[in-house]
Amino acid sequence: MLTSSSDTAEKRGRFICLEGIEGVGKSTHLGAVVSHLRDRGIPVVSTREPGGTPLGEALRDLLLSSNFPPMHGDTELLLMFAARAEHLRHFILPALEAGTWVVSDRFTDATYAYQGGGRCIPVERIAILEEWVQGAVRPDLTILLDASVSTGLARAGKRGTADRFEQETVSFFERVRAVYLDRAYKAPHRYAVVDAEADLSQVKSALLARIDDLLLRQADSLP
Ligand code: TMP
Repeated sequence: MLTSSSDTAEKRGRFICLEGIEGVGKSTHLGAVVSHLRDRGIPVVSTREPGGTPLGEALRDLLLSSNFPPMHGDTELLLMFAARAEHLRHFILPALEAGTWVVSDRFTDATYAYQGGGRCIPVERIAILEEWVQGAVRPDLTILLDASVSTGLARAGKRGTADRFEQETVSFFERVRAVYLDRAYKAPHRYAVVDAEADLSQVKSALLARIDDLLLRQADSLP
């Protein structure tokens, strides 16, 4: 039997990302998303950015470390995309092509939010790197866990020593949050915004409902 392009598209795994400022509970909820998909018989792997490969995790250590003199914004941006290039080629794309779904704790929306919003790097520079490193690859769904900066930072503050990003100012995180919300507002078909101020079980139900919407849309698009 001939394999049509729609067969190939049907077989390809889906790419879901969780985003938000520090302390919104991404890591906690990532496990729930993965279990939810597994319970429905979907092959799925989880990962994170920066990181996800041995070299990417080493770059993550450099990026989060406070042991160096202040890092230039361009260096930070390029290291994020260097880690992403490894992650895409050695982890994300092979999984998607094998029909496995990938759930990532952060991806390029974080670069627009943190390096673009937080560090005020022009968005055009980020778009050039996105195109270069990713080509047409974009998440199928990005779930933005949204909470106020005061809530997020208060929760993150309970986790112990602050990394280089967690030491940033409230206004830095206000800019990060504003970019996330703006991107979600401009592309509602690709984002789901979940109110992360609510208690854990409410956030989890809202988030899993959005995953079910995606599953339904996938089913509808099948021949
Ligand atoms: P986290 O994954 O534990 O939240 O930590 C990763 C940190 O890296 C977080 O503060 C956001 C930051 N980050 C960026 O600044 N740009 C990026 O592109 C990514 C993926 C993460």
